[in-house]
Amino acid sequence: MKNILIIVAHPKADSFSFAMANTYKENVEAKGHKAELLDLYRDTHQQPFFTYDDANKLETDAAMKYYQEKITHANEIVFVFPFWWGSFPAILKNFFDWNLSKGFAFHYVDGRPKGLLQGKRVKVFTTTGAPKFIYMITGANRRLKKMMDQQIIAFCGMKLDGFHIFGGVDTSRKNTDKIIETIKAL
Ligand SMILES: Cc1cc2nc3c(=O)[nH]c(=O)nc-3n(C[C@H](O)[C@H](O)[C@H](O)COP(=O)(O)O)c2cc1C
Repeated sequence: MKNILIIVAHPKADSFSFAMANTYKENVEAKGHKAELLDLYRDTHQQPFFTYDDANKLETDAAMKYYQEKITHANEIVFVFPFWWGSFPAILKNFFDWNLSKGFAFHYVDGRPKGLLQGKRVKVFTTTGAPKFIYMITGANRRLKKMMDQQIIAFCGMKLDGFHIFGGVDTSRKNTDKIIETIKAL
């Protein structure tokens, strides 16, 4: 049995990101795993934009401890978000800035960084407004995947276990039934 932490960064609770997250949650629970959905915009623990003042009080920050405990407990972490400006929403960046702190997510050995979140697997589900072929041609999907894997996931010792970028999702939601079926099959 896995403990799965699903972290959603979408301002609207009725968004397609939540539809994807809830589908994945129901699916893994049906397979006997435990899953928790963390809604970054509405969670009880909100973190202000990270500053260097915050960097000096990391040991005592309650919200950071709360999120780090959830990360520690998880064997699998799933990030679900809309593709904004070629990347993820700022609230997720702020989550990384705060909670993947030195001494928790990585440390230095002989001057070299070493990830401390070994054994955890990561999945990413994101949707773009533009059709997928645009991102295949321009390489925007590969850029985000490479950046997230090299700079965040592998850097902290975790393993990327699936990067799913679903194109052509706009407010009309034309394409979404197929995406839900894809998530159910994972
Ligand atoms: C602030 C913002 C930035 C966005 N940037 C991009 C972008 O860089 N590329 C893109 O294809 N779509 C972009 N979009 C469109 C979203 O990716 C799209 O609306 C979303 O994936 C649809 O999912 P939703 O209905 O769950 O919001 C952006 C939307 C917003 C609000």
